[in-house]
Amino acid sequence: MSKTTENLLQQEVDKRRTFAIISHPDAGKTTLTEKLLLFGGAIREAGTVKARKASKHATSDWMEIEKQRGISVTSSVMQFDYEGHRVNILDTPGHQDFSEDTYRTLTAADSAVMLIDVAKGVEAQTIKLFQVCAKRGIPIFTFINKLDREGRSPFDLMEELEQVLGIRSVPMNWPIGTGRELCGVYDRTLNQVELFQGDDHSNIQVQKVEDYNDPMIRQMAGDFLHDQLCQDLELLDVAGDPFDMEKVQRGELTPVFFGSAINNFGVQTFLENFLKLAPKPEPRKSTAGVIEPTDEKFSGYVFKIQANMNPAHRDRIAFLRIVSGKFQRGMSVKHARMGKEIKLSQPQQFLAQDRDIVQEAFPGDIIGLFDPGIFRIGDSLSQGSEVVFDELPTFSPEIFAKVTVKNALKHKQYQKGIDQLTEEGTIQVFQTVSFDDTLLGVVGQLQFEVFEYRMKGEYGVDVQLQRMPYQFARWIIDDNIDPSKFRINSTLVKDKKGNYVVLFENEYAMRTAMEKNPTAKFLETAP
Ligand code: G4P
Repeated sequence: MSKTTENLLQQEVDKRRTFAIISHPDAGKTTLTEKLLLFGGAIREAGTVKARKASKHATSDWMEIEKQRGISVTSSVMQFDYEGHRVNILDTPGHQDFSEDTYRTLTAADSAVMLIDVAKGVEAQTIKLFQVCAKRGIPIFTFINKLDREGRSPFDLMEELEQVLGIRSVPMNWPIGTGRELCGVYDRTLNQVELFQGDDHSNIQVQKVEDYNDPMIRQMAGDFLHDQLCQDLELLDVAGDPFDMEKVQRGELTPVFFGSAINNFGVQTFLENFLKLAPKPEPRKSTAGVIEPTDEKFSGYVFKIQANMNPAHRDRIAFLRIVSGKFQRGMSVKHARMGKEIKLSQPQQFLAQDRDIVQEAFPGDIIGLFDPGIFRIGDSLSQGSEVVFDELPTFSPEIFAKVTVKNALKHKQYQKGIDQLTEEGTIQVFQTVSFDDTLLGVVGQLQFEVFEYRMKGEYGVDVQLQRMPYQFARWIIDDNIDPSKFRINSTLVKDKKGNYVVLFENEYAMRTAMEKNPTAKFLETAP
């Protein structure tokens, strides 16, 4: 590679930030995303993202089910430029009915922003998404939202982060008053205050100060709030964790920002700090060793397949995370699993609502590839020599249903549908050891609905789903597996690859089984 090409690639890698926002529904993810896109000039008016969420898009070609329910079934990607950075936000469905796609999307992110409602604290969906990020050890930044509302104390929330998520936190800014009394935030690194002006909080003033004792803050916020601020920050200075970049990078310490997305308060400073601290695209492990983003040869992997974005054409889009090199439209790459060269001629980039044809892209970027049925989740594509990236993890399903075909004559199509939809990662499939029943496992109820919808639409098969009482799946490794041991509140099944898995109805049954089988290993994901 020539020096200039190498430098250019390095520059492109250095400026990229690819992250996902993780939160529980209603914490304000759509609102925050929209504000970030506004700063980046990717959208011109507020309401654009919201409109998509509410499914007001008349010309939309999203899946019917998505339209009916007004939610985003599958995650998408948004890109914008801000002060020399190219930012990729991986959107994850905010609805209760999230799916394995949500988890898989997190594997394509280099960092995560955890959004928390100041009144509600850490909620169920945030915990699950946090755990997936924590397992990968990626940096997690926290934005505590809705500061304009009455909420919990910042100390209380920090304690909860540690108790519930097991992560220490370091506040980067601190509120001056909260709820109705909120008048601003103090930035601990820049030594500046950001103040709300006026009742509607619409005017924001930024003022440099000496430190938090500066009398200017007292003048602006009043004695009571300034005393409180000084007390809190003195305590933090003495007893709080100092900022430690290495710990942040390892995902052991989360920088915390307070703000109010809807009022645009604290959002811009959050974005600027985040872009400074968040990692650029990282090297990834593969069969060919560690692949550096600046490796000359293009490589990437498919982390998601979205079907039927346009039902009229039945097309599928494979989402590819670029790991190294430069992508150019029309380039030929090796499809490792199929062992053949393919041409990437119709790639798309996802910017807010629009889909544009992308000519070139770099590590950290996500491109959508038209998929005539040749891609599977986890497929690796590379230029030149063959590179296979580490397999994407499977996630432990939590909801199960027995599936049967209503019309026995359609059995062949039914089997084909199940095989293909399993490959795409729409559902996980298990076979019971005792009765050879087929069970489907998912992490979100919506996956069942998508399964039923697609079985009918694409394979012409009506299926019947009967919910089963299991809640936990554990892959079991034991020399001597005895199905009779797993009959009470549990059952023994095999996954697609023939691995044994035990499904449990409750945590008690799972704990008992583990105690009774001390030599066996119970794994949360497939071995
Ligand atoms: P989500 O994508 O995480 O589900 O959340 P979304 O942005 O849709 O926000 C959920 C609700 O919280 C919305 O109100 C939104 O306006 C509100 N919200 C977001 N950020 C803030 C904030 O900083 N302060 C306050 N007070 N509210 C905030 P909604 O009534 O459900 O919708 P809408 O009618 O306002 O659109």
